[in-house]
Order: sequence, then structure tokens, then C-alpha cells
Amino acid sequence: MRIESPLVLAALSDLGVERLPGASLADLTSLAIGGTTDVLRVRAHRRVPALVRLLRSEGIEHRFLGGGTNVLIADGELPWVVLQLVSPQPDICIEGDSVWVDAAADLGRTVTTCAKQNLGGMEGLIGVPGSIGGALRMNAGAYGTEIGKFVREVEVYRTTSGENETLRGSQLSFDYRHTSFGPDDIMLRARLELPARPYDEILAGIRVCNEKRRASQPLNQKSAGCIFKNPPGGSAGRMIDGLGLKGFRVGGAMVSDRHANFFVNADRATCADMLGLIAEVRARVRAAHGCELEEEVILWNA
Ligand code: EPU
Repeated sequence: MRIESPLVLAALSDLGVERLPGASLADLTSLAIGGTTDVLRVRAHRRVPALVRLLRSEGIEHRFLGGGTNVLIADGELPWVVLQLVSPQPDICIEGDSVWVDAAADLGRTVTTCAKQNLGGMEGLIGVPGSIGGALRMNAGAYGTEIGKFVREVEVYRTTSGENETLRGSQLSFDYRHTSFGPDDIMLRARLELPARPYDEILAGIRVCNEKRRASQPLNQKSAGCIFKNPPGGSAGRMIDGLGLKGFRVGGAMVSDRHANFFVNADRATCADMLGLIAEVRARVRAAHGCELEEEVILWNA
């Protein structure tokens, strides 16, 4: 979608918003899949409510994109514009054991920055690609660590109230790849509380997790991490592997030959290829195990 409304185009610079007209979302996602639309880069959180009000008043549909590492986006010209938050600098502020971190900050860099200040606990998350905002929304987890355990406050833009709000205590809950945030809540900033630990110990933990990840995941291929959630008590990767589906392809989309729950863009895959692969693998797992796999990746195909 291209913004044509003169009112909106004129207001964007007043709101400190940069417009990338007709940007390719394939360039902004780890799967390298996605069509084109206007991307609006928003520098100041306090401007989000006014920007959303403006877009709504002009009937312009919009979606917020984080790091683009856990999303599968439709092909072609998209019927909505994309809003992306840009981190203010510094985007990580540490006070004692509290860490204020901006939603657009990189998750891995947050783990290492905190480690250098002798704050640990998040070692398992080191190789999870993406932004803090995406990690909060999905309760990102790996190697026994989930980010939710450390979250104390989150500033969100609430579509329901049209305002920025701070959530804390019982307003926040985190489960496996699931959180209490409303579907339209946009993460802006969070306060984490991390346990004090010597840098060397944290670094040793980081190295172990990096090794495990390198040994089992296709880190140098274009993917969105695991495509399906693990069913309760089971492993989607093991089930798909057990059906001999590593290397199975639909168009340019392929089940990784390293980890069967990673679907990779092997050769100019389209969203349609990837959706075809997801549907086929799900059907085969259903037929073999009677188990309905649910996507872990977020679909922006409608
Ligand atoms: N397995 C196979 N074949 C495969 C893949 C896995 O047999 O192709 C077996 C493994 O040998 C192991 C079991 O399945 O016995 C589980 O595999 P793994 O340890 O790789 O963990 P996972 O459950 O597949 C989860 C998360 C990952 C996270 C890892 C490490 C989900 C859906 N996935 O994977 O997160 O990195 O644990 O903690 O919960 C993601 O969310 O995108 C993601 C990659």
C-alpha cells in the first residue's frame, strides 16, 4: 500500500516518522519472504498514539513489525502499511539489577550488554534472533530460559485505549510461547530484573548455549526459527524428522536438513511455497500421530 493522503504525508515529518515508500518486507525479515508496502519508521514512542489515530482517521490499515525474525508475510503488494520502532540511543539502561530496554533493541546484544555488567540469567536466549519487543510478545525461550521470568514492567501502546500504558505485576503473565498481552498491544519498553553473576560464569554459559545451537540448528540459512510450537510433552522437530521429511520441499521452501522444525527459504521461496510446506507437513504429522501442530511463526497472510 502506498500512502497517498496529503494530510498523512504532511503530518509524518511533524511526528518524526521516516517513510520508506514501497519497501520490500523480504529485506526486513529473516525468512527473506514478504511483499511490498510503505514502511514508517517511528523514532519517539510518545508519537505512536497520534500516528495510529492519524492512520485510522484516514482509513489506512497498519501493522507493527519488530525484528522480523518470527513472521511469515504474504507476497505482492500488501494492503497495510508497516510501522517499525527505531531505538533511541542508548537503548539499554542499567540501574543496579534493573535493566530498562527498548522494544527495538536486539535481544542478543541485550544479553551480552547485561553480562558485561555482571547481570546474568538470560544466557539461554543468546542465539535467539530478534528484538526485545518480539521476545516479550512471544515469551521467547531456549535452553530452559524464558524471557518472561525476568520481566517486571512493560510499557505498551494499547490499541484498545489508544494510549501508552505501563503494565506490571498481575497485569503480566508468561507461558510457553504465550503471554497476557492483548493481540493489539505494541511493546515499547520493558524493565527486566536480572540476577547478579560474575561475567566469566555468564560467558561460559553463553558459550555452551552457542555450541548447542550451532550443533542442532541451521544458523546460516534463512528461517524464522521453529515453524511449529511443540505439542504438550512432545517435539515437533522429532516427529517431522521421524517421518523422513528433512529436505522435503515445496517450491523454494524446504524442511531444514539440520533441524526438522526449521523451514528454510532455500531458493527464492514465496509465502505461498512456505504455506504449502506448512500445510503438507501438518497433514502428514496429523495422519501419522493424530496431532494437530500449531504455528509458532506469526502469519501475516490475510
Ligand atoms: N530432534 C530430532 N530431529 C530434529 C530436531 C530435533 O530428532 O530434526 C529431537 C532432538 O534430538 C531432541 C528433541 O527433538 O531430542 C528436541 O529438539 P531440540 O533440543 O532441538 O529442541 P526443540 O524442542 O526442537 C526448542 C525450541 C527452540 C529452542 C530449542 C532449544 C520450540 C518450538 N522450539 O526446540 O526455539 O531454540 O528448544 O532450547 O519450542 C523457536 O522458538 O523458534 C526455537 C527455535
